[in-house]
Amino acid sequence: MTAILLMNSILFSIAILLVIAEKFLVTYGECEIVINKDKMLKVQGGDTLLNYFAQAKIFIPSACGGKATCGYCKVEVLSGGGHILPTEEIFISRKEKLKGLRLACQVKVKNNIEVLISPDLLEAQELEVTVIKIEDVTSDIKYIFLRLDEPASIKFKPGQYVQFKIPETDEFRAYSIASSPLQNNVIELVVRLVPSGLCSSYIHEALDVNDKITLTGPFGDFYLREDSGRDIICIGGGCGMAPIRSILLYLKEKGMPRKVMYFFGARSKKDLFFTEELRELEREFKNFRYIPALSEPRPQDNWDGETGFVTQVVERLMPEGSDQEAYLCGPQPMIDASIKVLTQKRVKDIYIYYDKF
Ligand SMILES: Cc1cc2nc3c(=O)[nH]c(=O)nc-3n(C[C@H](O)[C@H](O)[C@H](O)COP(=O)(O)OP(=O)(O)OC[C@H]3O[C@@H](n4cnc5c(N)ncnc54)[C@H](O)[C@@H]3O)c2cc1C
Ligand code: FES
Repeated sequence: MTAILLMNSILFSIAILLVIAEKFLVTYGECEIVINKDKMLKVQGGDTLLNYFAQAKIFIPSACGGKATCGYCKVEVLSGGGHILPTEEIFISRKEKLKGLRLACQVKVKNNIEVLISPDLLEAQELEVTVIKIEDVTSDIKYIFLRLDEPASIKFKPGQYVQFKIPETDEFRAYSIASSPLQNNVIELVVRLVPSGLCSSYIHEALDVNDKITLTGPFGDFYLREDSGRDIICIGGGCGMAPIRSILLYLKEKGMPRKVMYFFGARSKKDLFFTEELRELEREFKNFRYIPALSEPRPQDNWDGETGFVTQVVERLMPEGSDQEAYLCGPQPMIDASIKVLTQKRVKDIYIYYDKF
């Protein structure tokens, strides 16, 4: 037993020494990173693709800040990336593996390397913003207004998100844009406090009016498909309100050209927000319906609206039909249950779009 323990601690120490030695002693010399066959970065090897991209102001989604826990930083590596690491396995499907997809935060550049980055991602940029207003909309959700300084405006699709850089750190977190893309000099966010969460605690406890913040973006393939006339079903919960609000404000400004039903799940009345704005939208457009559902209304709520889990309410009220598309945003269990209901209602899975967080 003692011999095994001794052997294990020797192996562990050797592993640590190898990591330290690689970090401080191994140099890989100059390496070339060729992007989309036309752009070349010359770097001193040893760091990750993600970091070299950031240094070159190429901002690809990296919601976990390079810890291999979000799976968002996928790029296609055509050559020179070495073997896929165990940390990448859970995020890369068999089909993606065959295509050469890798997590940019896990690929260390040790030699020349050739990659393909989706042209959409090359449009993401660094955004310098100033906080102009902060409001409490529930006991744990803040509504943040940011003015764009540099650049002075942003182009994004309703439903997309930005990454918020936590000051004095290299950490980023993703937040969906809650405002309309037609109001392009301001970005609004809604941020829920996650107990002991690094970024949400910073935003709730330290962020103040006039603070300067760095964002990157826009990112994400959860956005309104404008090339369709299908009726729209939106299902949201918590801060899942943000991207759906952006979609609704955009549709409002376009004259609400399509029929929209918006189901929003909350525990009790105190967890509802933007209610008056959504009711106003209902009054303005006959083809828009807002249906909040409370799972645990309190007696003092005097609630005469829908009750139960939001998916039960969707099941009860949503019409059946394959000519509909759905936008879902909220916690994973809500999304999974919603997809089941929508499938029963004959919505085609290719028309179900979602962001889980
Ligand atoms: C595409 C996308 C869009 C997003 N949009 C929004 C948005 O509009 N508003 C918003 O508030 N958040 C949004 N998020 C979530 C956000 O990016 C952060 O994950 C969240 O704010 C927690 O970050 P943190 O630094 O405070 O917590 P961390 O320091 O990252 O985490 C602290 C602890 O909390 C746990 N944790 C992390 N996130 C959650 C969570 N959501 N619920 C419960 N536990 C959690 C972690 O596992 C960890 O144990 C989005 C996420 C994604 C991927
Ligand atoms: S940045 Fe999150 S997995 Fe790479």
